[in-house]
Amino acid sequence: MDEIPQTAGAAHDEREQILDRAMARHHNSGDALIEILHTAQQLYGYLPAPLLKKIARRLMLPPSRVLGVATFYHLFRLEPLRKHSAVVCLGTACYEAGGTELLEGLRQHPGSGDWSVASGRCVGSCGLAPIVICDGRAMARVTADKLEARLREDHDRGSTGTDAGH
Ligand code: FES
Repeated sequence: MDEIPQTAGAAHDEREQILDRAMARHHNSGDALIEILHTAQQLYGYLPAPLLKKIARRLMLPPSRVLGVATFYHLFRLEPLRKHSAVVCLGTACYEAGGTELLEGLRQHPGSGDWSVASGRCVGSCGLAPIVICDGRAMARVTADKLEARLREDHDRGSTGTDAGH
């Protein structure tokens, strides 16, 4: 996909103009890159590649620099949010307790299509490592089996239409 997403059905998508104005307000300065990425994500919900390229052109920055900043900060998303989110802590304790394997397992799991999967930094519960935050709730001492069960639970709930809202 090579286009900046448009609002479905909207007669006129104003997001591009709002972003243009935000960049103009910052005199199209590369120094304002993080603020501009924030604005772009607020407008679009995430930062698709064509949008990053446009920002790079406008701020006269190398596209690799803009992509580098967008991927360095965990608060920026390069993909749209899905129905569920899982953030695998990769702080030292969680990393050593198998966080990377959990992250890879989640990303490759055939049942994770509804999940936005990301890594995060230490959340301060190192004694319970590894930690995975699923839909805002911390799971402690996570194993591949526990994650598997969590994915299955949501899949079953979705297929029976009995989501209790948590
Ligand atoms: S390293 Fe994961 S909670 Fe601290």
